[in-house]
Amino acid sequence: MKYPKEYLEEIKTRLKVSTVVSKTVNLKKRGKEYVGLSPFKTEKTPSFTVNDEKEFYHCFSTAEHGNIFDFVMKTQNLKFGEAVKSLANLAGMRPYTFSKEDEIREEKWKNYKSIFNKYVDHYHDQLLKNPISTEAKEYLKKRGLTLEEVKKFKIGFETNDLNFQENIFNEFEENQIKDTGLFYFDDNKKKYVSRFRDRVLFPIKNISGDPIAVGGRILKESKYFAKYINSPETPFFKKGSNLFNLDFARKLSNNLNNIFLVEGYMDVIGLNKNKIDNVVANLGTSLTTRQILTLNQFFHEIVICFDGDESGYKAALRAAENSIIELKPEKKISFLFLPDKHDPDSFVNKNGKDFFLQFTKNNSVSIHKFIFEHYFKKMDDSPSSRAVFEKRLRSISSTIKDEFIRKYVLEYFLEKISELTPNINLKYKKAFSKSPKSLKSTQNYYNETKSFKAVDIKEFSFLYILLKKPKLIKENFNIIENVKLFSNENKLLFSEILNQSKNFKITDIEYINIDHNLIERVNKYASIKHIITKNFNDDEKIIEILSELVRDLKNYELEIRIEELESRFSKDLSEVTFNELKELKKLQKIN
Ligand code: CTP
Ligand code: MN
Repeated sequence: MKYPKEYLEEIKTRLKVSTVVSKTVNLKKRGKEYVGLSPFKTEKTPSFTVNDEKEFYHCFSTAEHGNIFDFVMKTQNLKFGEAVKSLANLAGMRPYTFSKEDEIREEKWKNYKSIFNKYVDHYHDQLLKNPISTEAKEYLKKRGLTLEEVKKFKIGFETNDLNFQENIFNEFEENQIKDTGLFYFDDNKKKYVSRFRDRVLFPIKNISGDPIAVGGRILKESKYFAKYINSPETPFFKKGSNLFNLDFARKLSNNLNNIFLVEGYMDVIGLNKNKIDNVVANLGTSLTTRQILTLNQFFHEIVICFDGDESGYKAALRAAENSIIELKPEKKISFLFLPDKHDPDSFVNKNGKDFFLQFTKNNSVSIHKFIFEHYFKKMDDSPSSRAVFEKRLRSISSTIKDEFIRKYVLEYFLEKISELTPNINLKYKKAFSKSPKSLKSTQNYYNETKSFKAVDIKEFSFLYILLKKPKLIKENFNIIENVKLFSNENKLLFSEILNQSKNFKITDIEYINIDHNLIERVNKYASIKHIITKNFNDDEKIIEILSELVRDLKNYELEIRIEELESRFSKDLSEVTFNELKELKKLQKIN
């Protein structure tokens, strides 16, 4: 039987973790934490820490981690109920006696679970085995799902099996069945009908993996029926508390720092298919602070990635304003915007895992930055519009619960605002040209080579010049040698070129022994090649272009470092990071 949350909370408030742990482990205070020798492993140097504020212990050598109940269960080999009894006793509290209501609720929960399990299993089976489901199977196949995903998520097809319905009504009481929301009473037909008939079923599970709701999708979109319907709220399914796939995803938190939060079932499944399993969906409802808190219990960073359309953007903004309230010092929330018309499902299926992860790395923006940029874009440079802008940002930062985060986010906003003051138009360009200023002539190529970022194209152009005019390398070695490239292939090529150029006498570098594919890429994508060909004998001009590229690439490197620092700052909030950040920004202005 389940203990009420409040009772467990009271035990936790009365007992510090260090109090409980120090009964068996010798602890020493170190800063905010306690350290000691791990009870899970024989060791000579302490790797076991206890943090009372965060209410957990963590063992660095075994990765054991948990609260007081976990600790007692693990070290004394007790069941949860026994651990609660023993700790309640230590806390001077009475053992919990379950009331009549608790028993009734427990009984209800058992039946609820049982009906759901039968329902989900049965219609999963129907999808796999009943020929009636052929169309549904075809549909799922068309969407790129394999048997693996169908089984992992226990996807079903509601074939409206009346025998099954009858069995359920024979086995369970009407009220219990009504509670599940799987069937409802049709007043016209005067009988119970199945809510999800003819729909593909996506079971929604609670954090422990019990199905508690379902979402149903129609096979063919039509204007008469909603594309998806979800279970109504029930005594055991509260919207805004659950997240689709949390039961699987949370298990990854030992190895992964971040979790993707997406909108839909298919996004979760699409990412899973592409071997990105740390993903949950909030299923089209607006994101609640409870969901954020839940995710933060397991993961340090939440990457919110909604659809790349207007409604996805709006949902993201709402999510940002709701979740910044709960931002905690050691946590991070960031946003990833996909190209228009894509959702995570379509994007990952088109580009694959590696690209998706790289794209995430390069393009996610932290929550305070996203909010700032959103309101910034909406502002014109009239005084009243700017006043509204500043007020809005101040009011958003004032909603933040954590006092340090509140302070620093406000500071971030104000600093950004003050940067705008001298000349708003000039700054506008600076803040929003994510990629460094581009040469006009290269602009057209960006469109042709969309899968590359502007900086990749610049790298290609830079390398192209080195390859075509090797004699310029030696003459301009000082400006070239410190350039930092980002793509691995280009890095490799660049270091080969530098290496070989040290002792070469050849003038046509194509003869040098370098992987030809790398050179091909450069030749293909360097946007600069026509200009170079045209000015092939004008070394001065080419050096000018080269220097411009070098400057752009350096600026890009600076931006990346600034972003890294901003992200670190949003985690550690240290003065040191903040000052370092300021320095870099100064440098960026000079360049
Ligand atoms: N949703 C809903 N009711 C709708 C439309 C959407 O409850 N009428 C929810 C579903 O949980 C859906 C999510 O919002 O998964 C995101 O909507 P959408 O982007 O339209 O869904 P996709 O998962 O992209 O759906 P599909 O690819 O199957 O068209
Ligand atoms: Mn979608």
